[in-house]
Amino acid sequence: MKVCVLGAGYVGLATGVMFGKLGHSVVCADIDPVRVKTVNGGKAPFYEPPLEKELAKLVKAGRLGASTDVRGAAEDARLIFICVQTPSLPSGRIDIRPVKAASRSIAKVLGRADDFKIVVMKSTVVPGTTDSVILPILERGSGKKAGKDFGLCMNPEFLQEGSALKDSMEPSRIVIGSLDKRSGDLLAKVYSPIRADRIRTDLGTAEMIKYASNSFLATKITYANEIANMCYRFGIDSETVLRATGMDPRIGSLFLKPGLGFGGSCLPKDVKALKDRARRDGYSPRLLNALLEINERQPSEAVWMLEKELGPLGGKRVAVLGLSFKGGVDDTRETRAVPLITALLAKGAKVVAYDPMAMSNFIRLMPTIEYAASASECLEGADGCIVQADWKDFRKLGKKEFSRMRNAVIVDGRRCLDPDAVRKAGAKYLGVGYGPASHP
Ligand code: UDX
Repeated sequence: MKVCVLGAGYVGLATGVMFGKLGHSVVCADIDPVRVKTVNGGKAPFYEPPLEKELAKLVKAGRLGASTDVRGAAEDARLIFICVQTPSLPSGRIDIRPVKAASRSIAKVLGRADDFKIVVMKSTVVPGTTDSVILPILERGSGKKAGKDFGLCMNPEFLQEGSALKDSMEPSRIVIGSLDKRSGDLLAKVYSPIRADRIRTDLGTAEMIKYASNSFLATKITYANEIANMCYRFGIDSETVLRATGMDPRIGSLFLKPGLGFGGSCLPKDVKALKDRARRDGYSPRLLNALLEINERQPSEAVWMLEKELGPLGGKRVAVLGLSFKGGVDDTRETRAVPLITALLAKGAKVVAYDPMAMSNFIRLMPTIEYAASASECLEGADGCIVQADWKDFRKLGKKEFSRMRNAVIVDGRRCLDPDAVRKAGAKYLGVGYGPASHP
């Protein structure tokens, strides 16, 4: 089957590569010509090695291509996925202009089509958007009737950056929200080679499932942070506490790792958007408000720990290792490195930063701080260091690197390093939430 994917970002490319691997013929349409050229060269426009490897194979085999001609790509396709971004506006509300623009282009194609095409929303949009915004654009622009002349589905994505393709090929569940049974059945058929539980529902429920999932993940992380912050003050090791807590099957062990808070392109944006959506319906979601507030404050936990060790940070040189929103990716959207460095600068510290892959993205966010060419160079002459993202490479740091510091104090904000190894290498290890060893 011919598949068109609008938007060649994480979700779009993972979706495109997944359908390519399932034997379909895929065109990824994007308005950005540089992105299109990159994809047609068999490269991903972001750091995601396993996805890139499969993308390159499909491009070479002629089963996946990219184009700036959105309408042309949609014309040939039976299934049209909308995977364009929905970034946050300053109010927290999502900006759905890219989704609307994509829908207008698709509507023109639907108007001329003589086959039953299915439009599938994969972009994250607040409940009600597909039905009350996208559907009218498609019907008005095409002069046709949704559910009769063309199909409409909402099919949220739950992939994590760093494992985008694996998460698409082996999802925890497939949610198919559809306007009508026919579209839902057809979309379900396309997913039939993928083994996962299926949830068939209406459009709004599918939209809400995505927000409920991401808000819960954000809540779990924030809960772990709150417990860890208290444990630290009580002289208790939160790692043991949270490991034991997560063993209760009603709780579960994943997403209970404390650190400097959640960042990335989804969790902060989705919590803010859900909060805004609820407020517009006259409901103030107090839990969501609280978790956003705790998340904002969380990076300053590391600053406080460093200050307790070094005294006032004014004039002190602080190395920040890891600038992406998590290790293993080059994405800096909503990275906690920004509030962390902002808090350090407010204390008068001199910040020097390094990241293995995200440096060029981060320099655009904070152009005026000092950057180092390697982790080792970053530690040179530093009075202290904060690990902000859990890059595997940082675990290799040892005596040679720590001895370059003026004061070998490491605050591990992501439980990335091995505390014993750091101590053995002659540095002082402090981990966010780490207390003394919990065994006698
Ligand atoms: C997230 C969701 O996991 C995914 O299901 C959704 O589709 C998109 O958003 P992603 O943005 O790739 O995926 O990041 P994720 O791995 O969830 O991490 C988000 C943030 O939480 C990162 O900053 C990470 O460091 C932090 N985190 C995660 C913790 O602090 N502790 C944890 O236990 C897990």
